[in-house]
Amino acid sequence: MSKSEHDEDMKETKKNDEEEEELTKKKFKSKYSIDPKHLLGKGSFGKLYSGINNVTGEEIAIKLEPLNAPQPQLLYEYKIYNALKNGFGIPKIYECSKDNKYTILIMELLGDSLEKLFVKANKRFSLITVLMIMEQLVTRLEFIHSKNLLHRDIKPDNFLIGRKEKKNIIYAIDFGLSKKYRDSRTGLHIPYRDGKSLTGTARYASINTHLGVEQSRRDDIESLGYMMMYFLKGSLPWQGMVNNNDTKKKYDRIKDLKIKYKLSDLCHGYPKECAMFIQYARNMKFESRPDYNYLRGLLRKAAKKNNLQFDSKNFDWIIKEKEEKDDTSETSSIINTNVKVIEEKV
Ligand SMILES: Nc1ncnc2c1ncn2[C@@H]1O[C@H](COP(=O)(O)OP(=O)(O)O)[C@@H](O)[C@H]1O
Ligand SMILES: [Mg+2]
Repeated sequence: MSKSEHDEDMKETKKNDEEEEELTKKKFKSKYSIDPKHLLGKGSFGKLYSGINNVTGEEIAIKLEPLNAPQPQLLYEYKIYNALKNGFGIPKIYECSKDNKYTILIMELLGDSLEKLFVKANKRFSLITVLMIMEQLVTRLEFIHSKNLLHRDIKPDNFLIGRKEKKNIIYAIDFGLSKKYRDSRTGLHIPYRDGKSLTGTARYASINTHLGVEQSRRDDIESLGYMMMYFLKGSLPWQGMVNNNDTKKKYDRIKDLKIKYKLSDLCHGYPKECAMFIQYARNMKFESRPDYNYLRGLLRKAAKKNNLQFDSKNFDWIIKEKEEKDDTSETSSIINTNVKVIEEKV
């Protein structure tokens, strides 16, 4: 082959590649449109936008991860979502593809995160709201664990409510740090290890995670316990540490405080079942299966003792929305009355 022929060939291949890329992009673009002005969230790894399925008109969420991300993980997350497919409280995943710049995950559009709702509520949730959130999340973890997976990044930003009539369902998202803890076929648990660096979010990390122990089911549960106290108290005692620029020192201080703080102090003024929840997680052995029924029982007991009802209507954000609706319908009836009066005068 002459040089010019070879060049010609190369050009042709390049052209084909470009064409293919364009087509992939087009396919993505024709089926789903992104709304670049509507940023839903910005995580540590990528950005989330809302968009629309052009065929069905359904609103969707789009998670984008640049192809040159230092630690690509969206494809991994897609695989985890697939393993959790059809689980109650797990978002539907429509497809995962790549264009010339991004890995793109198309998923069910959900509502606000618990963190966003909490901030909107001036960092206060009612006791019944917290107990109902927790009961759902124990069930969510039971499901995730039943699929041989750990979540490993339990925090309020990673739980979202649904939209419209699904505002009473708490969804679990963000499986980028998730890990398989036992073999699906043999059921063999991963081995105990230590000397590991912290994976997850320091504020909610279990004591053993701080100590460098390999995470297992117990650590997801312990983190859930800290999140519960965060929602009840408005903050955790190990928040707002100085040494912001020295991560290691900061993590060490968080660890020391978590170890030092008595559970009875941490949970003072709240149902004793809250301390029992965290204590139970801390007492668990590395390979133990959490007694999810016992944990749900604790939450139900705490509600009962305080004469509170487990009922979706009692979620703070649902009450608030209803109040706002009632308010506007009252205003509109006032306007209507006024109109009527004017009409009568005329
Ligand atoms: N399906 C979704 N619908 C609506 N908002 C979402 C959805 N998925 C994620 N978000 C928002 O984007 C944020 C980051 O998403 P997440 O998957 O947790 O990314 P990261 O792995 O970067 O933390 C979430 O905390 C949430 O506020
Ligand atoms: Mg996240």
